[in-house]
Amino acid sequence: MDTTKTALITAMETYFKGDTKRIRHAHSVTKYAEEILEPEGGNYSIVIGAAVLHDIGIHAAEEKYGSAAGKYQEKEGPPIARRILTGLGFESSQIEEICEIIAHHHSPGKIDTPNFKILYDADWLVNLRDEYNIQDRDKLGNIISKVFLTPSGKALAKEIYLQEDE
Ligand SMILES: [Fe+2]
Repeated sequence: MDTTKTALITAMETYFKGDTKRIRHAHSVTKYAEEILEPEGGNYSIVIGAAVLHDIGIHAAEEKYGSAAGKYQEKEGPPIARRILTGLGFESSQIEEICEIIAHHHSPGKIDTPNFKILYDADWLVNLRDEYNIQDRDKLGNIISKVFLTPSGKALAKEIYLQEDE
């Protein structure tokens, strides 16, 4: 594992203070982001930074608004991510891009970059089973075609959710 990723993960785990649910989620999203990063032509530092930190605003959102809803996380996440990334020596252009992705990661369509789409799809690869009834395979096929933004995200979603017992 490279030092940037190790440092990001340590910072995220420290911030989440033993919230194993959030920590595990960040690890899973990062793993999927790494899988689709190369075929989708993403930038490693941006995608990994965004993946590890994408939900970093969730505790602040819960504290301030009593809700972990997407729009609150999108608001609270970027300043926290900015502090962490600055501390880790990320360049300001990288910090801006990662924070932009975090600020919109529940709102597809506003940012159209490969880096955004990779993070968005990696998050959905993890969340699909919580958001939809994954037993209804016909419906699930349609949902996958609609939700995922990249060909690699779509293909991986089909592999994970539709071919499990074929
Ligand atoms: Fe997430």
